[in-house]
Amino acid sequence: MRLIFIGPPGSGKGTQAKRLAARYAVPHISTGDMLREAIADDTALGRQAAPIMASGGLVPDDLMIGIINDRLRKPDAGPGFILDGFPRTTVQAEKLDTIVGNGSDPLRVLQLLVPDDVLVKRTVLRRSCPECGAIYHLESAPPKTDMVCDRDGAALIHRPDDNEESVRKRLEAFHRQTLPVATYYKAKHILREVDGVGPLDVVFERIEKSLA
Ligand code: AP5
Repeated sequence: MRLIFIGPPGSGKGTQAKRLAARYAVPHISTGDMLREAIADDTALGRQAAPIMASGGLVPDDLMIGIINDRLRKPDAGPGFILDGFPRTTVQAEKLDTIVGNGSDPLRVLQLLVPDDVLVKRTVLRRSCPECGAIYHLESAPPKTDMVCDRDGAALIHRPDDNEESVRKRLEAFHRQTLPVATYYKAKHILREVDGVGPLDVVFERIEKSLA
């Protein structure tokens, strides 16, 4: 399974990619998570990315391509991967073609479709676990105990870029810079569109059906 998830902020890429990765036993590679880890570790990359992410902009292509090139060369990505958040520009998509080449499994691309007004509500009410990465939503997927991760008991966090102003800027970046990536893959006939509105299990079923 070599799959790319495309979707606007809050469309459910992370939520569904984690499930699919478990189902197909391949790594879930989220560039957003990798950048947040770099920020938490206070690396040079993290210091450069932090203000860009907080404002809702995109981290420069050359940095992102370097990160993904290194990550995809790790042995666990040999049998396959689920990419979440990359590529986000056509420059990144073109470069990814040269990185992954023609593997034994075809590259597939899945675009989650969710209207903008739903996305703002989803992101502003999202909470996540800093330890295991579990994703919650205060209304649609709340933790059993208020603000505590069901799996490991860690205190949940609210991402600094999950405020309405930053989400609107991320949406603008998605429309301007990432939708052309969907067009790029549509022209190659490898893009599937999936309705991302509905209960989590129903969306997962749609995804599995579209991949069958
Ligand atoms: P990233 O972390 O990738 O953020 P994003 O694309 O904005 O996506 P999100 O993580 O916000 O949402 P998601 O689609 O994963 O939704 P989730 O499953 O959590 O990137 C962050 C930043 O890093 C970027 O803005 C950029 O600055 C930088 N960056 C990253 N990659 C880059 C790249 N390649 N190039 C340049 N810069 C890069 O779900 C959201 C919420 O909705 C959750 O609360 C969830 O519980 C809930 N939910 C999910 N599905 C449903 C459903 N069906 N019904 C109801 N609620 C649902």
